[in-house]
Amino acid sequence: MATSEVQTKSDLLARDQAHLIHPLHNPAANENGHVWVRGEGACLYDLDGKEYIDGLSGLWNVFAGHGRKELADAASDQMRTLGYCSGYSGSTNRPAIDLAERLSDWAYPNINHFFFTSGGGESSDSCFKTARYYWKLKGKPEKTKVISREWGYHGVTLAAMSATGIKTYWPMFEPRVPGFIHIPSPYPYRYEAPEGASQGVAAANELEKAILAEGPDTVGMFFAEPVQGAGGVIVPQDDYFARIREICDQYDVLLVTDEVITGFGRTGTKFGLEHWGVTPDMIQFAKGVTSGYFPLGGIGISDEVSDVLNQGDTIWMHAYTYSAHPVGCRIALANLDIIEREGLLAAAREKGKKLKDGLCGALESHPHVGEVRGLGLMCAVEIVADKATKEEFPASDKIGPKILAASDQRGLFSRVRGDVYCIAPPAVITDAEIDRTVEAIAESVKAVLG
Ligand SMILES: Cc1ncc(COP(=O)(O)O)c(C=O)c1O
Repeated sequence: MATSEVQTKSDLLARDQAHLIHPLHNPAANENGHVWVRGEGACLYDLDGKEYIDGLSGLWNVFAGHGRKELADAASDQMRTLGYCSGYSGSTNRPAIDLAERLSDWAYPNINHFFFTSGGGESSDSCFKTARYYWKLKGKPEKTKVISREWGYHGVTLAAMSATGIKTYWPMFEPRVPGFIHIPSPYPYRYEAPEGASQGVAAANELEKAILAEGPDTVGMFFAEPVQGAGGVIVPQDDYFARIREICDQYDVLLVTDEVITGFGRTGTKFGLEHWGVTPDMIQFAKGVTSGYFPLGGIGISDEVSDVLNQGDTIWMHAYTYSAHPVGCRIALANLDIIEREGLLAAAREKGKKLKDGLCGALESHPHVGEVRGLGLMCAVEIVADKATKEEFPASDKIGPKILAASDQRGLFSRVRGDVYCIAPPAVITDAEIDRTVEAIAESVKAVLG
């Protein structure tokens, strides 16, 4: 069939079903999927011309919003000049150099060295391998284990999946890579601390328990999102990461933060741990670095880690064809220009507050809304069967998916984790669109639960 012919939505979906395998593939879920044709600001438009608020900024990534001609121009100009070149040692390009230098200003003061990938999962693998090599060079080759957290999401390459703590990602593909251990999430709404103890410190002490159980000489890194995203927007307690840092220092464990969602302004700061004044040893990023306009990710390492890696005359046997892609790096530079020029960090703080206040006002008193939470432009509404006991609805009731479907009918496109409705719109969302978002969620909750 000629692809240039004008086609109806059902024609396109039939061809999609015949040939396209989707992430989280499920033909039934795709039967009546959206066919998006355009984006502008915080909105997406489907083939029928209907407007939807992009409630999750694509997949948490389109921070600067849709329809940015400046990013298209940067891509076009770079493609016309130099569309690709190897990034391997001995071969470099101006946009990659400019971006690495620019990121040293953006990232934590000790993180000044960057390796680029094509996304989050590759970045997770890059962190695991870098940590292993670092400890080998330090004369501690046994320090290979990775401790991460329940509800953490770090991607789905085999190693990244093994660090991911959302268990539904595992069974189809087990056995997982050995040496990946999970501790409980600090999850303020659900974590039960011993009486009298600070919940954040008690949750952080789970790391110490795990390190001691595994043996400190075998643990190489602790891997954590500053705010857990896909796991349901879990914002840690204010004292959590300070205690985590202490534990990592005490047992010689690298603190590695997965800033794939929290990097580049989503929570209102450049990177997530800035909220708590804590500095990691290594970070990884993706998504917001290009606002989703190009598949680019990477890792940033501390001066100390870099000094160790640069010892001797070895070759670091880690590489991707698309590392330091000149087009991706050029788009990232233009995206950072937009974030700085338009004050999008402040926008994320202010609009995030309006969004969270709106959701609290509309929903907190609802008998099935257990919690409304968020930081910057990352928010969630957690639905429960019983507010007093925090008991969940049986998964078979599909409450979350039903609320999601109801919000879709009301022009809001987003995602749920079980019965937790996640919202993370672009930083350019207008006040009127925030009001529409709140209204759509509140009406959907009431439509499903009364
Ligand atoms: C925190 C975090 N890490 C890693 C990833 C994986 O990124 P990718 O899908 O680009 O492999 C994601 C994706 O949602 C993420 O949210």
